[in-house]
Amino acid sequence: MKTAANTIPRNSPCWCGSGKKYKKCHMGKGQRQVPLPETKPKGRQVIIKTEKQIEGIRKSSQLTKMLLDMVEERIGEGVTSNEIDGWVYRETLANGAIPAPLNYGHGQGRQRMPFPKSVCSSPNNVICHGIPNNHALQSGDIVNIDVTCDLDGYFGDASRMFIIGDVPDRTRELVEVTRECLELGIEQVYPSNTLGDIGHVIQQHAEKHGFSVVRDFAGHGVGVEFHEAPQVLHYGQPGTGVTIQENMIFTIEPMINMGSYECRVLGDGWTAVTVDGELSAQWEHTLLVTESGVEVLTA
Ligand code: MF3
Ligand code: CO
Ligand code: CO
Repeated sequence: MKTAANTIPRNSPCWCGSGKKYKKCHMGKGQRQVPLPETKPKGRQVIIKTEKQIEGIRKSSQLTKMLLDMVEERIGEGVTSNEIDGWVYRETLANGAIPAPLNYGHGQGRQRMPFPKSVCSSPNNVICHGIPNNHALQSGDIVNIDVTCDLDGYFGDASRMFIIGDVPDRTRELVEVTRECLELGIEQVYPSNTLGDIGHVIQQHAEKHGFSVVRDFAGHGVGVEFHEAPQVLHYGQPGTGVTIQENMIFTIEPMINMGSYECRVLGDGWTAVTVDGELSAQWEHTLLVTESGVEVLTA
């Protein structure tokens, strides 16, 4: 993933706007040694973060938040997801970070291509991992934009929904209930509670409103890697699963569907869509477990 900066074409105009070719301008300039985090997760073991790691992940998460704020200010009818991808790509590099999705999955199996863009853009019936393209957003669309920064080897991961123009009331309800699912999940984050308690409140709330919870994707530990243990399911039973402990860092990122929760991945190896073609919504935050509760690092 540290090779992502090399993917800027040498002869393209520099991202800084100087008008010079990238190779004559910033290529190689901003590169510094990325210090190795103190500990890397061993296998799929849940890690308790050190104070130094927490400080790094907090900064990275705040950059992620800022990038989503920028998207929120500019997104609207007529904007393409490739334009959003470009804004996030340039602004991430300008802040000394790397967009974690870019080239993600490289070397992790030959069956699919590495993720080719800097953000995930998941409109309408796309559940997650949509690849930005040149299609303009139009009134009636809903879209999730998911941003993850790698700042000095520390990761912050968050996503938001955006409503474009006018949408039916039930569509707005899907977006709002999904946000409430994230908020209710966050309320369950404190030491001695379990991951099952988080999944349970999310599932209860979604199903109470006649929506369904996607099973095939989950929240995850995050911080010194993009995706770490544990998995954070968005459904489940109270009092089950991993016990939450101080200084764990993980995401909650419920994907909630209007119709059935069934999902399939398109031929590009990434884009996950609803099998029934109905709408899907998602919101995500990166969370630090504190002594008595939670700090939302991407808020
Ligand atoms: N940001 C996504 C998540 O919340 C992961 C995207 S992986 C990518 O876990 F390769 F599609 F970018
Ligand atoms: Co995530
Ligand atoms: Co994400």
